[in-house]
Amino acid sequence: MKKIGVYTSGGDAPGMNAAIRAVVRMAVAKKLEVFGIHQGYIGMIEGKINQFQPRDVANIIQRGGTVLKTGRSTDFMKAEFRKKAADNLRALGIEGLVCIGGDGSFRGAHALWEEQKIPVIGVPGTIDNDIFGSDNTIGFDTAVNTALDAIDKIRDTAASHDRLFIVEVMGRNSGHIASYVGLAGGAEEIFTPDANTTVEKAVDRIKESIQRGKTSSIIIAAEGQKPGRAYDLAEAIRKKSGLDAKVCILGHLQRGGSPTASDRILASRMGAAAVELLIQGQSDVMIGTDGQKLVTVPLDVVVKSEKKTSMDLIHLATALSI
Ligand code: F6P
Repeated sequence: MKKIGVYTSGGDAPGMNAAIRAVVRMAVAKKLEVFGIHQGYIGMIEGKINQFQPRDVANIIQRGGTVLKTGRSTDFMKAEFRKKAADNLRALGIEGLVCIGGDGSFRGAHALWEEQKIPVIGVPGTIDNDIFGSDNTIGFDTAVNTALDAIDKIRDTAASHDRLFIVEVMGRNSGHIASYVGLAGGAEEIFTPDANTTVEKAVDRIKESIQRGKTSSIIIAAEGQKPGRAYDLAEAIRKKSGLDAKVCILGHLQRGGSPTASDRILASRMGAAAVELLIQGQSDVMIGTDGQKLVTVPLDVVVKSEKKTSMDLIHLATALSI
């Protein structure tokens, strides 16, 4: 293998730049030429590809977002566009790819390998942490800390006014961010698509806590597949109990910001390992973490499987919020 490409795809996540830097520098250290593909699959189809040198990735380890830009390509779901993308790569002599993204991106990467036999290694980069086969994804730790910072601030005003707040966090249809920030932020209730928290149970518990002398509470709601779900929840709580809940939707601010040390380290390890795997002749696998260890998981297993939200964290958060 002489030439490889790297791209970021799907929602951006803090730490993607650190992963790009690791891929570029490890590739050059191993005497490979490395190409940046811009805007994910969009740039692969349109041929927005250029060679990267170690200096091109200087001073990006601390930056959020992705210098390669990203995108969600609907064209790439069609075989004809995947062929066009593969032809562009072959024209440049690119013989292997590192895909930094989430499950949608890995579906595309897997199809590219199956149909066009372009070797590809997946590096999980998404704030949602919803990727089967890896304890952690790049960006999750930063997003959790960003959301937590906001929740701590909301707690100040909630406590000062004796108010009930609902804070909505991202996660698409998963509840990983919600369960982590819920426990770390001392939330009273956590709603996720897969938890069995109901409005009735939440209202009963909040009323009991008021009787015990609690004057303010924070409910964390995962957006589910419906951003803005927190407003429906507030209305349901008001109808059921008369309690007035203020809503704060954290939204895209959770995707930005400088990556935490954990995310930079994870991204650096995974980016470097992806290059090593391509050199060893591996393909169609994702690098994941199992505890502190890096492991590989076949991409088709990753995209067909679901990573469940930890109900233990949710139950603990509720138990500790009395
Ligand atoms: O997958 C990351 C994520 O931020 C999800 O948490 C969220 O549901 C989605 O992307 C939002 O996507 P977009 O920025 O395309 O609206």
